[in-house]
Amino acid sequence: MSYSLEQFVKDVKHIMAESNDEHELLSEVRPIARQAARDRSWLKKEHYVADEKQGFGSNPLHVEKDKSLFIVAVSWLPGRGAPPHNHGTWAIVAGVDGPERNVFWERLDDGLREGYAELRKTGDIDEVKTVPDVQVSHPFVERLIGTVRREFLDHVLFWNTLDLERKLGDFQHYYNHERVHASLGGATPAEVAGKSTITTRAKINDFRWQTHCRGLIQLPLAA
Ligand SMILES: [Fe+2]
Repeated sequence: MSYSLEQFVKDVKHIMAESNDEHELLSEVRPIARQAARDRSWLKKEHYVADEKQGFGSNPLHVEKDKSLFIVAVSWLPGRGAPPHNHGTWAIVAGVDGPERNVFWERLDDGLREGYAELRKTGDIDEVKTVPDVQVSHPFVERLIGTVRREFLDHVLFWNTLDLERKLGDFQHYYNHERVHASLGGATPAEVAGKSTITTRAKINDFRWQTHCRGLIQLPLAA
């Protein structure tokens, strides 16, 4: 069913009028933002244009007169990003095409010294979005989905969305940090990205078994 940008704006405004609670707003806007991103009727070629100097392109889709709502299509150039910043309000990022990493920071200093900030990384989320029903859009996503199905979902039971999300989180960590990839010459994605915390290789004759993904998978570990 189609879901226009106009309808999305109307629905978000309705939700905002009904509640001031940030958590409530986020949980109600999140599914319709996803729906609007999937609709793509609003998407134009120029939304993919990004500025080489700043590393991204920004196309406002809707600006409410009183500035209470701002919807923007952002396109990133590969590997580019923005320095840590604070939007000062809630925001929802809905992916349309390609991967995006969002890093979360906590500010440790009092913010009084101009041009200075002490930051602590509190987490990051890798999101890979593809277009529903358009498999050619991202073959690598299809491959990842195949691996997740074959190696994980075909073997594990889950009770509800929360349970599945937790278990997929475990598998994501295993996939990126523990599982060696033939296509990466036997390395893990974390090693290739320079983010591995593993400093030594296991000796093949000297190991013990370690369970992953709540006992689903057992892997040898250097003894
Ligand atoms: Fe931002």
